[in-house]
Amino acid sequence: MSEIPESKIQSVRNDFPILSRTIYGKPLVYFDNAATTQKPRAVIDAISNYYLNDNANVHRGVHYLSQQATGAFEDVRKKVAAFINAGSPSEIVFTRGATEAINLVAWSYCESFLNVGDEIIISVLEHHSNIVPWQVACERKGAHLKVIPVTLDGELDMEVFGQLLNDRTKMVAVSHISNTLGTINPIAGIVAMAHSKNVPVFVDGAQGLSHGPVDVQELDCDFYAFSAHKMYGPMGIGGLYGKASWLELMQPYQLGGEMIEKVTFANTSYNEIPYKFEAGTPNVADVMGLGAAIDYLQGLGWNFITSRENDLLKYATTRLLEVEGITIIGTASKKAAIISFLIDGIHFFDAGTIIDHLGIAVRTGSHCTQPLMDILGINGTLRASMAFYNTRQEVDKLIDAIHRVKTLFA
Ligand SMILES: Cc1ncc(COP(=O)(O)O)c(C=O)c1O
Repeated sequence: MSEIPESKIQSVRNDFPILSRTIYGKPLVYFDNAATTQKPRAVIDAISNYYLNDNANVHRGVHYLSQQATGAFEDVRKKVAAFINAGSPSEIVFTRGATEAINLVAWSYCESFLNVGDEIIISVLEHHSNIVPWQVACERKGAHLKVIPVTLDGELDMEVFGQLLNDRTKMVAVSHISNTLGTINPIAGIVAMAHSKNVPVFVDGAQGLSHGPVDVQELDCDFYAFSAHKMYGPMGIGGLYGKASWLELMQPYQLGGEMIEKVTFANTSYNEIPYKFEAGTPNVADVMGLGAAIDYLQGLGWNFITSRENDLLKYATTRLLEVEGITIIGTASKKAAIISFLIDGIHFFDAGTIIDHLGIAVRTGSHCTQPLMDILGINGTLRASMAFYNTRQEVDKLIDAIHRVKTLFA
């Protein structure tokens, strides 16, 4: 049993107003946290407080509100930097989310450093957002995309990775945690191998920052992308960590606004990092929400979060495997609380629809990982992705719902 008292879990659940609503007359069971997590009241309040009391454009005004907004905005940048242990706040670029951060690097890095015949290595596990930008960059530059395969358990095949790395490799781009299989990839090992060949590593951390502490200096990765909405913060904001030595060398991705230092009709010079990569008015309100999400996570502490999620992962895995005809897809030795599964003879959409009508939100489909589905020889899965606010009782409800599905299709 989890050693955390029930009263503590209930008080954490009370921080999330949406968790007390009903769906089709049943209490909501929310198991779609890998798609987006729910938001605590502190995050919602930070956004509305900004618009109610503090709204002003940042960086451009001498007036009180503008200076106050600028200070608060830059304080969140410092908070993000401390949260992931970046060397300096100037290594944190605010973006719309992980996808935009990946596109930024795939464009800006490749524009300067990718040439005909070069290679970029990704993995079979990647989300479309960490495939297509590199694929298109390769097409644009006449380079080649190489793909690390996975073992039967859903772990990256590190031996093949070692064979793929060579003098033509210009980037390794891999996810920290697979959104489909839950596999936690050995990032530090990947970085060590890539760096031994002087190849930088980009980490898609969309699923990484919500499940456990991330220390980018310890990982020694060159880039790390994240989305606030997957870590209990708002949609529409996220960020990119990039080592200053790379960000300094890269071309700006979008042009105009705060990324400018000086404009004449003859030519333009660019602002220093990170502003060089932040064109136009930023999403200040949601940056406030991101700051509140980090405060909230730090208030809970990683011990609470990881022990809750590990308990739920173990419990849900055991209970699912007790049901006849269930196959779990992805059985890596190091996993986050994300479980993809299939029910023998029942299409995942049919099962997901019935489960939904019982008030339980699970995701169905390819989870934006179609190439992985192709390799696995399936069209999709059901996916239950859990957060610290979920409970064993909710897992029991999912198991009951699966039995109901099986009865209906018997
Ligand atoms: C592993 C991974 N990478 C990238 C993304 C894209 O994130 P966003 O849509 O927030 O940009 C997701 C979203 O599900 C993801 O799970």
